[in-house]
Formats: sequence, structure tokens, C-alpha cells
Amino acid sequence: MSDFEKLKNQLINKLTEAKNSKEVDLIRTEIFGKNGLINSEFKKLGSLSPDEKKNVASKINNAKQELTKLFNKKLSSLENFEIDERVKNEKDDVTLPEKDFRIGKIHPVSQVIDEISSIFSEIGFSVEEGPDIETEYYNFTALNTPENHPAKDMHDTFYLEENMKTLLRTHTSPVQVRTMLNGKPPFKIIAPGRTYRSDSDQTHTPMFHQLEGLHIDKNITMGHLKGCLNYFIKEFFELEKIKMRFRPSHFPFTEPSAEVDIGYRIENNKIIIGEGDKWLEILGCGMVHPNVLKNSKVDPNKFQGFAFGIGIDRLAMLKYGINDLRSFFESDYRWLNYYGFDPLDVPTNYRGLSK
Ligand code: PHE
Repeated sequence: MSDFEKLKNQLINKLTEAKNSKEVDLIRTEIFGKNGLINSEFKKLGSLSPDEKKNVASKINNAKQELTKLFNKKLSSLENFEIDERVKNEKDDVTLPEKDFRIGKIHPVSQVIDEISSIFSEIGFSVEEGPDIETEYYNFTALNTPENHPAKDMHDTFYLEENMKTLLRTHTSPVQVRTMLNGKPPFKIIAPGRTYRSDSDQTHTPMFHQLEGLHIDKNITMGHLKGCLNYFIKEFFELEKIKMRFRPSHFPFTEPSAEVDIGYRIENNKIIIGEGDKWLEILGCGMVHPNVLKNSKVDPNKFQGFAFGIGIDRLAMLKYGINDLRSFFESDYRWLNYYGFDPLDVPTNYRGLSK
């Protein structure tokens, strides 16, 4: 047997025994590489007579064909095997943290809830929550809303039962009552959450967000309410000075009641907050009605305080220049990519809320 045949058989054996595609790849160079078996043998042809040349060349070509076939077969069978093995053994652990977590974005509503919570927690408010499905009692009755009060129509309530005892809460105010019944005064809380009213246009969606505030203690006055909200609005819009006004209003659960407007003007189609001669309503507030305190087992002769309800979505629209409320809830990834926030930039007062 010639040296060539011997080498060829050795390589065939090696190929047959190869255990993975990496090994096969190394053998590829030994056979077909620049200095591999086939090329070295072709190089030798130069020293042969024409007849011999023909003979040997056809032998080499046959060997090359044989080896190529063998090589391709081996490689593809190993590759298939390796893919099967990977599929069998590789598992996606969905509980592992996302490697590229910067891809996800925080929704502007979540961002604004975090911003507002951060502002109020700095001045001593803690966060409470209440259920989205409420009873008529907590949503209206305990809040001093009489049976036939127009507020019930005004709210366009989604009732869940025909007897009208359960409903989707129309505001976050029931959390006031729940919080007071659950603890002892003083109370200093905020309660963000979803609220529902049957309403839909550019500035109203059937589900929207509110943030309730409640501060009950021995000597809380309307002055505290005004100072607290003024502080909040300046912090929220990150402005030194902001035009704001309290406008007398009516809510069954507060007395006196007010709505708060902030000043704005439009310049080059853009809204400038805090100055100008236009007014925009952003929240309702007032001194908690003694009947609400009584219904919440708090003695109105000893304790009093204020409450407010902020429209979160509206604040988000104003601060981040979003003009259609409905776009908040369409789950459009492109929209979220544009208006969303980096998950690592958690808002804090000392570091800046939105930068
Ligand atoms: N609950 C009121 C609303 O939804 C807002 C409000 C809250 C007013 C607390 C006064 C006090 O419109």
C-alpha cells in the first residue's frame, strides 16, 4: 500500500471516530488544507512522467471525491446531533433577570406615580392602597354622599351588580375611609390607583388614575392644605415659581371644598406651565367633612384634616407633552419606546425627578 493510501486510511479512521464538529473541522485542514493530504499529493505530480501523471492524478481525484463525501456526511450528522442535544438540554429560565434590561421602558403613568410618591414621602406621607372593586358604601355612602345626590350620576358609575351594591370605584376617596377604619389618628397617607367612569374622549378614558391624599391630625387647617399642594406642584413640575389658584367647589366629603388650577400659556403650539393667563384644573381637595370622620371612627371634635384627589394621567400629559389620553392605554410599543422612561432612573427628589 502506498504512503498516500496509508495516510488516506488514517484520515478516514480519524474522521469516523471524530466526536464533534470541532474535531471534524481540524481534520478538514489535514485533508483539504493548503498543506493537507490532497494538495501535497498533487504537488508531487510535477516529478512524474506524463503517463504516470494521468494515472496518479485520477487516483488522487477519486480519493478526493471519496473523502469529500465522507467528510460532508460526517459533518452533517454531527451537526444534527449537536442541535438535537442543545434543544434537549437548553432551557430558558424565565425567572432569570433580563440580560439587556434597558430595552424595557417604564410607562409615563408609572413614572408619574413614582415621582408623586417620592415628593410626598419626603414630607412624611406613606403609601396606602385600596381595592378597584368597591362597595357602594365605601365609594359613596361613607363619603357622605346621600342616596340621591347628583354626584352619583356625575360619576357615571360602572355597577357590577343589579342591586348596585358593588361597583368599580369612581375615585380613590374610599381609601380615606378604609385607612382610617384600619388604624388610629394621626393619618398622613397617599393612595395611588386605578379609577373608573363611563366616559371616553380625548381627555377621558373609562379607566384612569388618581392619587388620593389624606392628612388628619389635631390642628390641621386649610393653610396646611394650601402649603402642601403648593409645595407638591412646584416640586412636580420642577419649577421655582408656579401660578396656582384655589377655586371654591363642592364635594360631599369635604367642607369647604376647592378645585386647584394652575396657570399656563401656549407658545409655538407648546404648553408652558406655571405662567400665562389660562387655567387648567388638576385636582380636587378640601377639609375632610366631619361626617366622613364619624363614619371612619375618628372623633371630629379632636381630629380634623384635609384630603385631595389628583388626576395622575392629566399631570403626566402636561409634564411630558402627551396630548391624547387614550394613547396611554393602547399598549403600542413604539409609543412606549418614545414616551417611556429608563427603568434604572428611579425618580428621587434629591437627584431630580425626571432627568
Ligand atoms: N374624589 C374627588 C374626585 O374624584 C377628588 C377629591 C378628593 C376631592 C379628595 C376632595 C378631596 O373628583
